Amino acid sequence: MTFRAKHLLGIEPLKPDDIREILDLADQYVDLNRGAVKHSDALAGLTQINMFFENSTRTQASFELAGKRLGADVMNMAMQASSIKKGETLIDTALTLNAMHPDLLVVRHPHSGAVDLLAQKVNCAVLNAGDGRHEHPTQALLDALTIRRAKGRLHRLSIAICGDIAHSRVARSNIILLGKMENRVRLVGPPTLVPGQFAEFGCEVYDDMAEGLKDVDVVMMLRLQRERMDGGFIPSEREYYHRYGLDAEKLAHAKPDAIVMHPGPMNRGVEIDGEIADDINRSVIQEQVEMGVAVRMAAMDLLARNLRERADGGVMV
Ligand code: NCD
Repeated sequence: MTFRAKHLLGIEPLKPDDIREILDLADQYVDLNRGAVKHSDALAGLTQINMFFENSTRTQASFELAGKRLGADVMNMAMQASSIKKGETLIDTALTLNAMHPDLLVVRHPHSGAVDLLAQKVNCAVLNAGDGRHEHPTQALLDALTIRRAKGRLHRLSIAICGDIAHSRVARSNIILLGKMENRVRLVGPPTLVPGQFAEFGCEVYDDMAEGLKDVDVVMMLRLQRERMDGGFIPSEREYYHRYGLDAEKLAHAKPDAIVMHPGPMNRGVEIDGEIADDINRSVIQEQVEMGVAVRMAAMDLLARNLRERADGGVMV
């Protein structure tokens, strides 16, 4: 085993072999999930608590299903955004939950760094389900699995990440992961939404879709994250769609077999045309959701193995 970490807080600390190990195990869980009996005992006897301080549909459902299919006792805490007062409140919540002896804590929080802070205060394994605009590691892993299965490899691909990159933890985690696996990553969007700092990750930056999508293997669209914008980042949604919304005409610049991705939730008619999103010959958006459950099963299984090894006195790095 190569992935020996206590927590999964981001893609940044992972080695390429860790990523491959998680994806290889996730492939096995895809088979389990497609079978008649979708159950294993990998997490039997363990308690998983999901704490979502920010709204979520698919990520929370996916973590819940993943835990249940692996036999864990899963509890969803109802965390209202209004109860967040940062700092002490978050730590107090963490300490309270810690006293109940959970084994896996899945946390989503609107502040970048909040999940790392929480992880320092608890004994269990913590999985980051998205913190502010920082990281969303299981999303990048499920995207990687989707790409690997569709393209047969996860290296030397040309991938365009398009739209609201500035506010996106999905973009950040994907940029880091795809870079580690030696792909060429292009960022495409209006200059207000594509901060120059990403150039230092080795990405090429474009503000024109036709140029940015030219001959790419993968087109990854992002949602306009209005809730994280505090000013006029775009002129109007109509104008945005005209210049940056993915439609058949813009997609024609990519390779003929390029796949289309979107982490959801989608704004049809804003960043993506509904017909492209639903085109089963191009869009792998439903596959991404399917891979999400398998990747979360794999990540929690591996973290649980590490927990057991630590409890048995094994040496952890
Ligand atoms: C993303 C998120 O919450 O970061 N969604 C998700 O996890 N599927 C992207 C988004 O909200 O746009």
